[in-house]
Amino acid sequence: MKQTILTFKRAKENNEKITMLTAYDYISASLMDQAGIHGLLVGDSLGMVFCGLENTLSVTVDQMIYHTKAVRRGAKEALVVTDMPFMSYQTSVADALYNAGRIVKEGGAEAVKLEGGKEICPQVEAIVKAGIPVMGHIGLTPQSINAFGGFKVQGKAAKEAKVLIESAEALEAAGAFSIVLECVPEELAKCISETISIPTIGIGAGKACDGQILVYQDLLGMYEGIAPKFVKRYVEIGTAMKAAFTQYQSEVADGVFPDTAHSFQMTKENFEALTKED
Ligand code: KIV
Repeated sequence: MKQTILTFKRAKENNEKITMLTAYDYISASLMDQAGIHGLLVGDSLGMVFCGLENTLSVTVDQMIYHTKAVRRGAKEALVVTDMPFMSYQTSVADALYNAGRIVKEGGAEAVKLEGGKEICPQVEAIVKAGIPVMGHIGLTPQSINAFGGFKVQGKAAKEAKVLIESAEALEAAGAFSIVLECVPEELAKCISETISIPTIGIGAGKACDGQILVYQDLLGMYEGIAPKFVKRYVEIGTAMKAAFTQYQSEVADGVFPDTAHSFQMTKENFEALTKED
């Protein structure tokens, strides 16, 4: 079934969990889609896990569009949501509208995601009014990494937690269809999920959220950078990949690969004709 913002809304009403993963390429998106994942996020985390950068700050709108196009080709049923990268929406409502429009028109995204609370509500409202669904993102918002002083759990103190509850309410009032809660205590995530009527999608926010999202390279055990506590590695694909690359390297070096089974042959007659002197 094609997933839309309405199926997300219905899932919360029916108490059914929503599953999301990040996706940056066609093949992964297609496999996730076939596995029944409801939503694919073309996250600006691609700066780190796809490009090897230290953080997400230098990711551009053009990069997001490029990856969104690839993901859309693989996503037959999943809802495709694309991150608006750093400084593509914070600068003004007009910039936010222009860049959200590009991500939808050129990339084919079905929704966009913006990081931040009350301060970005004018942008959220304008984008939603233009007919583009918006997913919010509060808690640990990686585009504010320098302001946070590192990748740290947010909302542990009551005062901070209250600000996050107010941010979630403000985003809902501005028209967001869903909100990512990243790296917040599970008690706070439960409180937010029960306070607002739109679905919360947790990452490092415990099981009370209406849905969950993970970065797929983390889930597959591929990423060797930061290993947050909330990541569950379902398989060690990185180890399997390294073993395969190593075996390939030594088989080529030893002349084991390619063997006859992996090569093309001429008929005996054709070979004789080729080697026969005129
Ligand atoms: O960029 C990203 O991958 C994200 C998720 C971690 C929610 O924003």
